Amino acid sequence: MAFYTTDELNELGFKALGKNIKISTRAAIYRPEEMEVGDNVRIDDFCIVSGKIKFGRNVHLAQFSNVSGGASGVVFDDFSGLAYGCHVFTGSDDYSGKTLTNATVPFEYKGHSEASIYLGRHVIIGTNSVIFPGVSLAEGTAVGALSMITKNTLPWSIYFGAPAKKIKDRKKDLLTLEQRYLNKFD
Ligand SMILES: CC(C)(COP(=O)(O)OP(=O)(O)OC[C@H]1O[C@@H](n2cnc3c(N)ncnc32)[C@H](O)[C@@H]1OP(=O)(O)O)[C@@H](O)C(=O)NCCC(=O)NCCS
Repeated sequence: MAFYTTDELNELGFKALGKNIKISTRAAIYRPEEMEVGDNVRIDDFCIVSGKIKFGRNVHLAQFSNVSGGASGVVFDDFSGLAYGCHVFTGSDDYSGKTLTNATVPFEYKGHSEASIYLGRHVIIGTNSVIFPGVSLAEGTAVGALSMITKNTLPWSIYFGAPAKKIKDRKKDLLTLEQRYLNKFD
């Protein structure tokens, strides 16, 4: 994968940039001036990333993922990530039939709503999943492939399905490995 150099990243005009950031030159980044990017973040080929987004450290967006932060914003806390082809969006049209829909129609004819999204530390989302506006994924949530997350999750839990339901608790062993990894930077 080809990544932007540090100079090229600085030229893109992010709000804040950490160290050792790998953003593919094939990713589409819209409104970087609203994005804060922590250390060791990686964004792969063909991701589409737009609007207000805060990435903590060691966040990964795998190929073909789409994150639309809008004005409300998405926060990816440390060590969280999306597997291939996930969709995370803070805004949605009104599907009830009360208003017009879709991006070609001016806002005055639409019932567009927006709400922020939070992915806690160590959250991992399986391939081709969808996260709805307003959802908060608690620390340590894991979500299986092809899931639709419409509600907040409980910490250290594994979910899957559409809509996603908790199937079991998630182990916390990874916290020991996190500490070992972070100790290298002290
Ligand atoms: C959700 C997940 C973590 C569960 O893993 P697990 O605890 O090992 O569970 P199992 O594989 O034993 O599956 C348990 C049951 O749930 C079903 N299941 C597993 N994942 C599912 C999913 N995403 N959607 C629907 N059903 C699923 C299995 O078919 C199985 O059903 P059965 O008991 O009727 O045979 C895993 O299946 C998954 O989806 N991982 C994400 C993988 C991914 O997207 N990787 C991308 C690259 S990082």
